[in-house]
Amino acid sequence: MDSPYIEWSPAMELGHATVDRQHKQLFDLAASLVQDADHLRVMRTLATLSEYVVVHFRDEEQLLADIGYPGLEAHKQAHDAFRNRLARLYGNAGGMSLDSIAAEVRQLVNDWLANHILVADREYAAYLPA
Ligand SMILES: [Fe+2]
Repeated sequence: MDSPYIEWSPAMELGHATVDRQHKQLFDLAASLVQDADHLRVMRTLATLSEYVVVHFRDEEQLLADIGYPGLEAHKQAHDAFRNRLARLYGNAGGMSLDSIAAEVRQLVNDWLANHILVADREYAAYLPA
């Protein structure tokens, strides 16, 4: 389970202050979660992360609507899929070991979040006003 954990890096910046700050916050929350040895606190961080993902996706989708991004619908579907995976994890996490929770969060961040920011989000960055 110890695949290298992808951390936020300036290479992920899109040049939009709010989006970049929110992306970093998502990584920070996930990183603190996988290092935490207290189940109750992990559950609380997972709840915070889930809520923050909802806020971030809502803000990002509003931004994409505002700039008339043509890929908005597909982008929303990608967000929905991630939101659902995270909600499922939160729903199951009460009965999971910390190692299993950390492994799933690691997978969500490495396989989905980092890739989404570096690929899908980068595609809309070209549409942002300079
Ligand atoms: Fe996105």
